[in-house]
Amino acid sequence: MANLLILFFVIMNGFKLGVYGLSMNYYLFSCPFVDSIVKNNLNTALQDDPTLAAGLVRMHFHDCFIEGCDGSVLIDSTKENTAEKDSPANLSLRGYKVIDDIKQELEKQCPGVVSCADILAMAARDAVFFAGGPIYNIPKGRKDGTRSKIEDTFNLPPPFFNASQLIRMFGQHGFSPKDMVALSGNNCV
Ligand SMILES: *[C@@H]1O[C@H](CO)[C@@H](O)[C@H](O)[C@H]1NC(C)=O
Ligand SMILES: *[C@@H]1O[C@H](CO)[C@@H](O)[C@H](O)[C@H]1NC(C)=O
Repeated sequence: MANLLILFFVIMNGFKLGVYGLSMNYYLFSCPFVDSIVKNNLNTALQDDPTLAAGLVRMHFHDCFIEGCDGSVLIDSTKENTAEKDSPANLSLRGYKVIDDIKQELEKQCPGVVSCADILAMAARDAVFFAGGPIYNIPKGRKDGTRSKIEDTFNLPPPFFNASQLIRMFGQHGFSPKDMVALSGNNCV
């Protein structure tokens, strides 16, 4: 199970990111304590509500499955645009507040530096570890997207898909059926 988790996070974090521009030490000079700030804030929140761990992995997944891991799931709707967040597919997405709190803390320490997409990716990583999963390192440097449209969420796997349709859909994103089953565990919370 642990290996499986590592595998699909590696794949998931490769989602349309391109390898360019990303690095393990992306914030080394601009925000050296980013990892511990994320982790400490997250751990506090998870101590209050441990079930949020799965919620954050799920949110990261919803973010990545649509146009890559670009933080677009966090964008609020406006008068002119209904964002991904307000799709029926979001229905049970949870953990927005933790991400907002972490972002706020980071803005105090290193204003305008850390992308929300990276915060979500790091929070999901730390949530996996908190929940008893493996620890894994992720490259950082994701840029936040500005596109967040409700219609894009129709690319998420719908609940009425049968197994073969799901396997095909996840396969198109580089996931094996095993990855899919492991990932689906987070979708039940
Ligand atoms: C998710 O979508 C529903 C309806 O589609 C909306 O009412 C709700 O506010 C959204 N949730 C969040 C956290 O934005
Ligand atoms: C799954 O659904 C597709 C499309 O409706 C259908 O062609 C296929 O036979 C179904 N597979 C199974 C195993 O039910």
